[in-house]
Amino acid sequence: MRLHYLTLFLLLVPLELSTIYGLSTQGNVPKKSSIKPLLPPPEALLSIGHYHTTCPDAEGIISQKVAAWVKKDPTLAPAIIRLHFHDCAVMGCDASILLNHPGSERTALESRTLRGFQLIDDIKSELEKKCPRTVSCADILTAAARDATLLAGGPFWEVPFGRKDGKISLAREANLVPHGHENITALITFFQERGLDILDLVTLSGSHTIGRSTCSSIMDRIYNFNGTKKPDPSLNVFFLKLLRKRCKRVMDLVHLDVITPRTFDTTYYTNLMRKVGLLSTDQSLFSDARTAPFVEAFATQPFLFTSQFSVSMVKLGNVQVLTRPNEGEIRVNCNYVNTV
Ligand code: HEM
Ligand SMILES: *[C@@H]1O[C@H](CO)[C@@H](O)[C@H](O)[C@H]1NC(C)=O
Ligand SMILES: *[C@@H]1O[C@H](CO)[C@@H](O)[C@H](O)[C@H]1NC(C)=O
Repeated sequence: MRLHYLTLFLLLVPLELSTIYGLSTQGNVPKKSSIKPLLPPPEALLSIGHYHTTCPDAEGIISQKVAAWVKKDPTLAPAIIRLHFHDCAVMGCDASILLNHPGSERTALESRTLRGFQLIDDIKSELEKKCPRTVSCADILTAAARDATLLAGGPFWEVPFGRKDGKISLAREANLVPHGHENITALITFFQERGLDILDLVTLSGSHTIGRSTCSSIMDRIYNFNGTKKPDPSLNVFFLKLLRKRCKRVMDLVHLDVITPRTFDTTYYTNLMRKVGLLSTDQSLFSDARTAPFVEAFATQPFLFTSQFSVSMVKLGNVQVLTRPNEGEIRVNCNYVNTV
């Protein structure tokens, strides 16, 4: 027995050291730049029990607040889910979208239809009373997006906590978030740059099963597609007529899921198969061979969608999180970086 362990030890230790110090197995003369200590990825430091001792009621307070606000205004459920996406899509899930100073992401033109900031502020002020300087704005937004999904009829999942809030937010980065005119290659690239794959793209786009868009996102589709002065041929003709009636001005609102606009279901995917997807990017998911199989799978097997949605939302919430001791802070007010 002893001998076995010793042999294993001798075999494994040099192997581990070489991975830790990035030594090459041949030559053993590392370049200086290749010496990198092996750290766990930042999201590995998140945990479901993160606030269990420091703020045990955190999740309860968040879900009660979200429920109360959504009861008064159901359109806040999709708004909060989108706000979380826009946070994570730019500089990771660090609440940079909530910073409200001149030149921040939130002040950019591309952010003008984002909503739900007051709900997050209300949750934060309650949490500051119960457990001051403990729960980050990034964690609040992540949990609120989960609670909003559940309230709209979607699945529940456990949210790992421990994100810290960033100190930087740049207006010019707000336009990195796709706005509905991209091709599938661009969308895949955008998601991959954030550690999300094609399945995550199709799954998370399923958030468009609830919520609305301003007509500005689709004016080209209904009047002048691709500079042709004709509508997008991938639009169902009856749906086209409806959209032309609903979209008189660019700021008019249309449902992202025309059939069941307030229910978190798989109708979004069946819509794509019937050419009644709202955004050009939605509809393209069914015309591109890389994404269409997932659309069909979700349209026909709702359970696949809800279980994968939970998985992909956890992945989205883990994008470029700040978790190390020397990174970020716990903001006192989600609108501003701490002063001291
Ligand atoms: C795949 C790329 C995506 C594109 C191109 C896109 C684009 C858009 C656009 C153009 C709108 C309407 C904005 C407006 O005019 O007011 C919108 C709304 C929305 N998006 Fe996305 N989105 C994408 C991905 C996502 C993801 C990953 C999520 C969540 C995980 C999400 C959640 C939402 C929700 C819930 C709304 C409705 C907001 C409301 O009703 O207030 N989207 N999206
Ligand atoms: C897709 O969009 C990217 C970025 O806008 C562009 O460079 C590329 O040519 C487009 N690809 C196709 C197939 O249209
Ligand atoms: C849009 O226009 C570009 C160039 O004008 C063309 O290559 C492309 O195929 C068009 N797309 C569609 C869907 O018609």
